[in-house]
Amino acid sequence: MDVSKKLVVGNWKMNGSLAGNAAFLEEVTKSAGFGCAMAICVPFPYLAQASHLLSSASEIALGAQNVSEFDEGAYTGEVSARMLSDLGCSYVIVGHSERRTLFREDDGTVGRKARAALGVGLLPIVCVGETLAQRNDGVTLEVVTRQLDAVAAEVDGLAVDRVVLAYEPVWAIGSGLTATTEQVGEVHASIRVWAQRVFGGGVATKILYGGSVKPGNAAELFAVPNVDGGLIGGASLVARDFLAICRAAADY
Ligand code: PGA
Repeated sequence: MDVSKKLVVGNWKMNGSLAGNAAFLEEVTKSAGFGCAMAICVPFPYLAQASHLLSSASEIALGAQNVSEFDEGAYTGEVSARMLSDLGCSYVIVGHSERRTLFREDDGTVGRKARAALGVGLLPIVCVGETLAQRNDGVTLEVVTRQLDAVAAEVDGLAVDRVVLAYEPVWAIGSGLTATTEQVGEVHASIRVWAQRVFGGGVATKILYGGSVKPGNAAELFAVPNVDGGLIGGASLVARDFLAICRAAADY
């Protein structure tokens, strides 16, 4: 992981098709020579395809969107960290709010998934963030710290500086609502302090912002102190938009 560059990660969620992915990846790999680090997190069934198509573009890393907390064995339907690594993944998203909410993943599970990823050399992208009710109750920093502490407790002793953190306010995901630069700045500063305290060398920890990042707002979000890049959902499905966001990140 290049600590000096911003990192832009696309999260396709449960979208894609063999034909559509091929067209997208061809367009993105063609526009080589980005000044930012890039990764694309695709659904499990498309990892092999994306791994193959991205092999010519070494600056674009491959990632998955979830991983089992278990190493191997009788866990029907699960996908292990080693399998992801086998398929060429460098990153895996853990604790996305959709998984926390829709699939009832708790803080401990998220921490164990991060540990499983680190155990095979994958970089976990750990998502944290508050709901609108929690923001309105004034407990945003408390919620985010609790989520981060749970991960630190599980990955204790592993290479914690290899954890990527992503602040994603739940109310800003897929809603078209973006957190203000003040809101983003406040939470990212607090995450930086946390990373320095818990990880020691916190400056090297990448802290991404996610939640309705678009070509039109990417530059101002990336200019906020302690924002080291973005986790992009909807806008990562359209190559032109994703590339525009990467270009905004490359200006730093
Ligand atoms: P969004 O999603 O960009 O569509 O808001 C971000 C995410 O869920 O990671």
